[in-house]
Amino acid sequence: MKNVLISTGHELRYNDFVRAENCWLFDTSGNKYLDLESGVWCTSLGHCHPKITKVIVEQSQKIIHNGYCYLNPIIDEAAEKLLRITGLDSGKCVFLCSGSEAVEYSLKMTKSFSDKPYFLTMRNCYLSAYGIAGERSQENWIEFDWKKGGCIEEIDFSKISAFIFEPGSSSGLVHFPPRELVDIIVSRVRENGGIIITNEVTTGIGRTGKWFGYNHYNINPDIVVIGKGLGNGYPVSCVAISEAVISRLDLDKFHYAQSHQNDPLGASIANKVIEIIEEENLLPRCQTISEEICNHLKKIKDKYGIIKEIRAKGLMIAIEFEDNSDFSYANMINEELLMRNVILVKRPGFEVFRIDPALTIDKNDIKYFLENLEEIISTIK
Ligand SMILES: Cc1ncc(COP(=O)(O)O)c(C=O)c1O
Repeated sequence: MKNVLISTGHELRYNDFVRAENCWLFDTSGNKYLDLESGVWCTSLGHCHPKITKVIVEQSQKIIHNGYCYLNPIIDEAAEKLLRITGLDSGKCVFLCSGSEAVEYSLKMTKSFSDKPYFLTMRNCYLSAYGIAGERSQENWIEFDWKKGGCIEEIDFSKISAFIFEPGSSSGLVHFPPRELVDIIVSRVRENGGIIITNEVTTGIGRTGKWFGYNHYNINPDIVVIGKGLGNGYPVSCVAISEAVISRLDLDKFHYAQSHQNDPLGASIANKVIEIIEEENLLPRCQTISEEICNHLKKIKDKYGIIKEIRAKGLMIAIEFEDNSDFSYANMINEELLMRNVILVKRPGFEVFRIDPALTIDKNDIKYFLENLEEIISTIK
């Protein structure tokens, strides 16, 4: 890869994966690797799902891209589905290209109608690679550290324009802020005229066994930000906006234009992703498979004693290992798994594995992973 700049902060381990099918990646020599992270949590229906490939081929033979003054019916069809599954019927959607862009859009939109100076969010959540949410400056943000017992009485809710809530992922560490706490924050924000934005870039589109992470809470958000799984690997994201927020917008003043907004190719893929999840009953499947994986992981935990905690909602699973002064269990097990062609991600600096496989993962692939994991753990002294 002499011509490619790698600036993600992650180590590049392989550079010749030329084909992929569901959870398997194939290199030029024909070796295959089990992808338990769905790329960057994007291929929730598996790599190269045949129905997604078909819609990409068919839509690209019709029209891929729009200009500012014309649209295509497929965009409205995808928007209608998204409004239905978010419960924001009578609202509107905009299609963008990445999760970061969708988060930024939602913030810029909120700033256009709110005179309150701050956004509120939880300290450890991830929101965006750039912009207002990427910088997270004190000028714009109040961050609440619920894990360190932050006190909500210290927050001046009259100054909060929006609470941006990431329901569960916490930068991939899979921590779930308590419902009662979230309920209180949501009602204080609303009482003071602020709005609720849920960041569903990671937790949305079935990842947690429900359509959205906020479905595990008592929240009816005003804006839902969706990315990653929506495109199953194709870069499309969406901001779904309630009718109430739309009515507060002054579209003579709030302008946001980029070249690939509401493009038909991305919308046709999003439309198909939702259709497949419904047709193939993937939400209940996600919950069942999650239970099977977690039950097996608990047995490994009880038997070998090096796993500290298993946290999961649907197929968003984290395994946290005990601290060990001699070596890192997570590093060591990760290296062994890689040697057995199993790819999952270990967060640098944390004794935690993230496992976010496709909702379509084959049960034999799960068995392959769990058997290898147990075999490796059983050899640790
Ligand atoms: C919770 C969350 N929000 C936003 C983003 C940004 O999305 P993207 O990388 O598509 O810009 C990410 C990316 O990992 C994320 O995990």
